[in-house]
Amino acid sequence: KQTMRFAILGLGTVGKGVVKLLQESREMLHLKTGLNLELAKVLVRDASKPRPGFEGLPLTEDVSEILDDPSIRIVVELMGGIEPARTYLVEALRRGKTIVTANKDVMADYDKDLYDAGEIGDAEIYFEASVGGGIPIIRPLKEALAANTMRQVMGIVNGTTNYILTQMSQYGRSYEEALQEAQALGYAEPDPTNDVQGFDAARKLAILCTICFLSRVKPGMVYTEGITRVTPRDIEYGRRFGWVLKLLAIGKEVDGEIEARVHPAFIPHTHPLASVAGSFNAIYTVGDPVGETMFYGRGAGAGPTASAVVSDLIAAALSKRTPGRRAGDAHTVYFEKRVLPIE
Ligand code: NDP
Ligand code: HSE
Repeated sequence: KQTMRFAILGLGTVGKGVVKLLQESREMLHLKTGLNLELAKVLVRDASKPRPGFEGLPLTEDVSEILDDPSIRIVVELMGGIEPARTYLVEALRRGKTIVTANKDVMADYDKDLYDAGEIGDAEIYFEASVGGGIPIIRPLKEALAANTMRQVMGIVNGTTNYILTQMSQYGRSYEEALQEAQALGYAEPDPTNDVQGFDAARKLAILCTICFLSRVKPGMVYTEGITRVTPRDIEYGRRFGWVLKLLAIGKEVDGEIEARVHPAFIPHTHPLASVAGSFNAIYTVGDPVGETMFYGRGAGAGPTASAVVSDLIAAALSKRTPGRRAGDAHTVYFEKRVLPIE
């Protein structure tokens, strides 16, 4: 079997989720890709830090061991933040590697050179995990809904704030307690200010609007208001009127222009988004001619995010454009399990 070597940058909440999923599903990945996916290196800031349950990984603190190794074909970036992640991604692309990233900060704010670098290397960028955690949304919008003219994209795209609002409204938790729990559960960003002030949702909305409306929407163009000023009293008043408070991200085309905003909003408790609770996210889109579609699932956390990252890794490994994939290679999925007879 052909071996496809890849590296991971970052071994935090998501990085560990990805390594665990790869270890647990080795056989299935082999069946689905026909390849041996070999984890060649893992970049961390501090290789001497104890990482219980993740001993024996090929850790490095030196990114050049990854970038300058031509046998590493795919780089999976799970560090977060704009720099140095962005520079590493650009350098990986320049060297012709395919990249997979969960980094909405970089993807929402990319400049042309991220794409120029891709063109130089004729490589590809996969970023399914950057919006909606485990929910398939980037590739569905780019591929399965490509025939549509998109009119609107609206949703709950931040798991941390949705968890906090749910805990406050359903269980009477304080804002501070709920934020601490969201951090402990691995939902929050390394700097949770990005979640609670709405910046993370604004970055995700910028990515969604860019794909939906074929216009370069950057986070600074999105009206952004977080949940830091929401009080239990606001939530209680809303409840008396039958409303639920949610942090909504809304992008729509209005008279040929794009309106993009993130802010807390009361929605009727009968609205489909009202029942999206905890770390779950949902994204509702309207397109011509498909009409309304809705995507729902876990928007944050190690497992759901690893699902999106590893699925991207599979797509990258199978792409004919990924260097090292032999032209004409086909993969066969071997169906091994017996189908139970109908009794
Ligand atoms: P963590 O803070 O848990 O992990 C970050 C990892 O990156 C750590 O292992 C850290 O190394 C490493 N790292 C950071 N900076 C550097 C550097 N300069 N050089 C080398 N290594 C570095 O973050 P998460 O796992 O939560 O998030 C990772 C990415 O995934 C982010 O872009 C985030 O936005 C995105 N994401 C997160 C989700 C979630 O639910 N948490 C969901 C969807 C996307 P060390 O261990 O040595 O400190
Ligand atoms: N901090 C993010 C959230 C992680 O809470 O939604 C998923 O992108």
